[in-house]
Amino acid sequence: MSYNNITLGNVNANNVGTLAIIVNSTLPITYPDTFFNEVLTSDRGTFYSKIAYFNEIPVGSIKAKLIQNSKSRISSTGIYIEFITVLEHYQNKGIGKILLQYIEDECKRSYQHSIYIHVAVDNTNAITWYEKNDFKREGDILKGYYKDTTGSPDAYILKKNV
Ligand SMILES: CC(C)(COP(=O)(O)OP(=O)(O)OC[C@H]1O[C@@H](n2cnc3c(N)ncnc32)[C@H](O)[C@@H]1OP(=O)(O)O)[C@@H](O)C(=O)NCCC(=O)NCCS
Repeated sequence: MSYNNITLGNVNANNVGTLAIIVNSTLPITYPDTFFNEVLTSDRGTFYSKIAYFNEIPVGSIKAKLIQNSKSRISSTGIYIEFITVLEHYQNKGIGKILLQYIEDECKRSYQHSIYIHVAVDNTNAITWYEKNDFKREGDILKGYYKDTTGSPDAYILKKNV
């Protein structure tokens, strides 16, 4: 598979609205602007975010957060992927894989050893995709984890050691 026409770009004040559109049109949850705008400053922690372009068209995105010294049941130390999304028409072209590779590189660069995510239990496509990318299910189902979703409120934690 050729990845030549896929590039990643930084999120900035001009394109953060595009990020919101990509995410809110692919996931069953609608996030507020504050959720996207927080990547523009360091006030609320260290974030990793990119927009993926296919032939210069913005079609995918990722946002992740550095979690340090966590003792919570639902968040552990490492890099937590808050979302990774590719518009349906552009899926299966290797774009998700490149976005994930970016986070794996950042994980090593920040001396972290794990990447994890929450995924709705009914999102079987994403679960299969993460398992194909060496994520393993960890712990019990988190009942009622998602609020205001049109999908299942219950989530799995999937984790990858890097
Ligand atoms: C999950 C998602 C990000 C994957 O992105 P993508 O760009 O379609 O995935 P890629 O094309 O990079 O996939 C790479 C590999 O996985 C395979 N793959 C893709 N989708 C798959 C699936 N549903 N099940 C199994 N394998 C899959 C591809 O065939 C490819 O395999 P290869 O390397 O052997 O050729 C994308 O499907 C998506 O945005 N889904 C909706 C949003 C979502 O649920 N996100 C996750 C929760 S935040």
